[in-house]
Amino acid sequence: MTDAANASFKPRIFSGIQPSGGLTLGNYLGALKRFVEKQDEGIETVYCLVDLHAITVWQDPERLRAQTREAAAGFIAAGIDPARSILFNQSQVSAHAELGWVLNCVARLGWMNRMTQFKDKAGKNAEAASLGLYAYPSLMAADILLYHATMVPVGEDQKQHVELTRDIAAKFNHDYRTDFFPLPEPVIEGAATRVMSLRDGTKKMSKSDPSDASRINLTDDADMIAQKIRKARTDAEPLPETLAELKDRPEAKNLVNIYAALAGEAPETVLERFAGHGFGAFKPALAELAVAVLGPITTEMKRLMADPAEIDRVLGQGAERADAIARPILARTLDIVGMIRSRPV
Ligand code: AMP
Ligand code: TRP
Repeated sequence: MTDAANASFKPRIFSGIQPSGGLTLGNYLGALKRFVEKQDEGIETVYCLVDLHAITVWQDPERLRAQTREAAAGFIAAGIDPARSILFNQSQVSAHAELGWVLNCVARLGWMNRMTQFKDKAGKNAEAASLGLYAYPSLMAADILLYHATMVPVGEDQKQHVELTRDIAAKFNHDYRTDFFPLPEPVIEGAATRVMSLRDGTKKMSKSDPSDASRINLTDDADMIAQKIRKARTDAEPLPETLAELKDRPEAKNLVNIYAALAGEAPETVLERFAGHGFGAFKPALAELAVAVLGPITTEMKRLMADPAEIDRVLGQGAERADAIARPILARTLDIVGMIRSRPV
């Protein structure tokens, strides 16, 4: 099937975030902020807290539940409107796990072996990694294909997984002589598709980094944000006039990109304003901007988190709407692969 055949599918966006820790500035700029923009463009949007993906590495059960609610609150506080977008947690729609199994039988071991996130997460002792961590990308493909999603907004690090999803969809279509699944496009755009650690400009900012100073959490208060930015690793040079001159200054480049993404400006524009200034001037300006953008989100998140029953209700309703799309697509998939489906419903 060619991409042109995607034209027969209606535009629909799907994306997911793991509730395996608090949301970071990386999640906000690389994902959430763009999820809200897509929703506001009027495209149909489906957003999922992928709790089944989270347990591919150990999660304390009570913490996982709390973090899932916190992530839901973060989505809503950032501007996801549960009436316009579908917002739910993955495990409440069992079709994800079911399609995931079918796709495990389509994906090839050789493809999985090339996944860099598995290599990073499994570390040196891959033998001790869970089987789920290895199969993670085919469950992700199931998430996307279950909604016949055509676009998947993600950060740079997820590009390989979305490309694998295309390979899985294409192989399914080819093997079963069908054009049932669209080939979804990764959507990677904006100034901050890869926000780096505040302690090491060569590592991505991550909720799983042992150092809390390496990231800004959406739950950090104004003082904490200012302190982390003040202590962020930098160099002694003033900011240059062009982006090209930041090439070998990963920490400086990261802070400029963060500023640009928060301000909704091009990094070039930021440099025009700050060229010649050192970090003594730039960091306080960045801290002020970060607090102005994130402060209201943090406040709203705290307010929402005070009522966990309401969050659960929103997720339950989202799951029902998700299920209504996913169920028929799963049923058709099972027909295509040759399963008998005679149980009365
Ligand atoms: P995760 O937290 O790994 O589940 O990621 C959820 C989404 O946030 C994915 O689209 C990631 O690509 C994106 N994301 C996570 N960390 C970063 C980062 N440091 N910079 C940009 N995007 C990120
Ligand atoms: N793997 C993604 C991450 O770690 C999360 C995810 C799971 C996802 N399923 C998805 C993202 C489907 C986009 C679409 O960031």
